[in-house]
Amino acid sequence: MSLPNLEMDTDLEQDLALDFVRVVEEAAIAAARTMGQGVADTSDQVAVQAMRRAFERMPIAGTIVIGEGERDKAPMLYIGEPVGKTPPDGVRYPSVDIAVDPLEGTNLCSTGASNAIAVLAASEPGGLLHAPDCYMEKIIAGPACRGALDLDATPEENLKSMAGCLEREVSDLTIAVLERPRHADLIAQIRKAGARIRLLQDGDLSAGIAAAVRGAGIDAVMGTGGAPEGVITAAALRCLHGEMVARLVVNTPELEARVLKMGIKDPHRIYRARELAPGRRLVFAACGVTQGALLNGVRFFGEGCRTHSLVMTRDSNSVRFVDAVHLSKPPGPRGVRLF
Ligand code: FBP
Repeated sequence: MSLPNLEMDTDLEQDLALDFVRVVEEAAIAAARTMGQGVADTSDQVAVQAMRRAFERMPIAGTIVIGEGERDKAPMLYIGEPVGKTPPDGVRYPSVDIAVDPLEGTNLCSTGASNAIAVLAASEPGGLLHAPDCYMEKIIAGPACRGALDLDATPEENLKSMAGCLEREVSDLTIAVLERPRHADLIAQIRKAGARIRLLQDGDLSAGIAAAVRGAGIDAVMGTGGAPEGVITAAALRCLHGEMVARLVVNTPELEARVLKMGIKDPHRIYRARELAPGRRLVFAACGVTQGALLNGVRFFGEGCRTHSLVMTRDSNSVRFVDAVHLSKPPGPRGVRLF
C-alpha cells in the first residue's frame, strides 16, 4: 500500500524545532570536547558523527541537501544521504530537506577562538537551494535594509544606503569581513568610506545572523564566503526578516558545468534570501561550540555540560534561545552545579 507523502506543516515546523535543537546540541558538545586541541579534522568529524547519530532518533524522512559533499557510503552527512528514524510498518514520516554545517568555524574550534557553532536548516522538500560547495559573494544586513543592498554597487554606495536605512552615519556602521587576501580591496574601500570593520578569522554564517539581530554589534557582512553557509544564513534571515543579496562565484568552466547540472539555469544570478531558502516552512537551529556574540559556548562541569542554542521557525514566527543542562551522571549530594 502506498502511503500519502506527509507535509511539513506549521505545527510540525514547531514540533520538529526542538528535535533539531538536540541535533545541533549533540554536534556542539562533541566538537567542544576537542576545543583548542589543534585537531581541526577530528573536531569536524566528531561533530558530523554526533549529528548523524542524533538524526537517527528523529521521526522524519530527511535528506541532506547541503552537507559534506557527495561521498558514497561514507559515514558522514553527505549530500543525498537519507537521515531520520526508520518508521514502523505502515507509518510514513514527513519528508524534510536539511542543510548542515556540523562545525561552522572548524579552525575557530581547533584554536579555541570565538563563534564556532554547530548549525542546520530544514524545510519542506525543495525549500533550500542545492548550492554547490563553491564561493558566494554576499551582503547581509538586518530588516531595516530591505531592498537597499546591491551586489553590483560599490561598497561605498552600499554603505551609504545602509546608513540611510539605519538613520546613522557611515562612520557608525560596523561591517564584518572575512580576513582573506581576496578581500584586500573590499577592506580598503570600506575603510575609505569611513565605516568600522570587524575582521573575521572565520565564520561568516554566525556574523550574518548577528547582522540581522539588533544590538549584536554587527550591522552587515560583506564579502565572499562559502555558498553552503550562504544558504543556511538565508534560512536564518528568512526567520529574522533580514536582508541578503548573493551570487555564486562561478569562475571555471568545470564549476559552471556542475552548477548547470545541479539545475541552476543562470550561474551568475543574484539571489535574495527568499530565493536561497524559498521554503514556506523553515527551521534554523544553531548551538554555540565556543563562546560567541549571540551564543555561549559549551561549558563542561562535573556532572555534565550546559549548552546554548538558537532555534527559529519561519511560518510559525518563533525565535527561541535554549539554555540546556545535560547531565551525564546523577548530581552529587550538594545538587546540580550549573556553573
Ligand atoms: P568551515 O569551518 O565550516 O569550514 O567554514 C568556515 C568559513 O570561515 C565560513 O564561515 C566561510 O563561509 C568560509 O569558511 C570561507 O571560506 P575560506 O576559508 O576558504 O575563505
